[in-house]
Amino acid sequence: MRGPAARSIKYHGAAAFEAMRKAGRIAAETLDFIAEYVQPGVSTAQLDALCEQYMRDHGATPATIGYHGYRHASCISVNHVVTHGIPSAEKIIREGDIANIDVTPIFEGWHGDSSRMYVAGEPSKLAARLIDTTYEAMMAGITAIRPGATLGDVGYAIQQVARRERFSSVLEYCGHGIGQIFHDEPQVVHGGRPGEGVELRPGMFFTVEPMLNAGRAAVKLLNDGWTVVTRDRSLSAQFEHTVAVTDTGFEIFTLSAEELSPEKAYTLSAG
Ligand code: MF3
Ligand code: CO
Ligand code: CO
Repeated sequence: MRGPAARSIKYHGAAAFEAMRKAGRIAAETLDFIAEYVQPGVSTAQLDALCEQYMRDHGATPATIGYHGYRHASCISVNHVVTHGIPSAEKIIREGDIANIDVTPIFEGWHGDSSRMYVAGEPSKLAARLIDTTYEAMMAGITAIRPGATLGDVGYAIQQVARRERFSSVLEYCGHGIGQIFHDEPQVVHGGRPGEGVELRPGMFFTVEPMLNAGRAAVKLLNDGWTVVTRDRSLSAQFEHTVAVTDTGFEIFTLSAEELSPEKAYTLSAG
């Protein structure tokens, strides 16, 4: 068989970790790079073009171009868009908007998948709390990762953070196994019960990418076949990292130095 074997949970070795560090770094650097451009007046098509150029300039190919007919280098999901927003010249970012930008560079055959929230100008109090909570939920999920824990533990940790703030976690769209295949087994549901689901073992690679809604959890797919919105049009936020299970815990492949320095990840663009 040519190329990576189809869907199954894979347990990777040292060379694969090394490759994923490179792909993950390009994803993180793309998200660092785009921050200063997320300002009122920019179109999501312009942001997409900048992300594409950055990835190509660093020797990577955007995995989303040609993926099930998708034509863009990123997904950009503004305000009540939950995920898979399609970049468009008509979609202009306005003061106070919040946006998720999601990129997946392929470098030497390996995928680094990551997304962050950005704010154009000043966010509302609710938007800031939603973004902070979503980041905290993602990190709570990631820190639950260790050999012997389960995906139920990861989902439960995420949902507990959401519930504490009376936000809801979207369950229809999931994290996923990743590596030489973009979307592989297992599915990583952003909710669940402790001790249930797939047991984690060293060498597993997957994404953790919770979507939290300020209102109800219900979502709707628009007629374009991609854009997912909240049914009640409440705000939604998402963060995503690509991670590995290690012998002692986890490794985040898509972490950037800039992400860790400010108190809040999203203030990268708040200016
Ligand atoms: N990057 C998204 C994810 O986190 C997938 C986007 S697929 C696309 O899994 F085709 F919509 F771009
Ligand atoms: Co993903
Ligand atoms: Co993604």
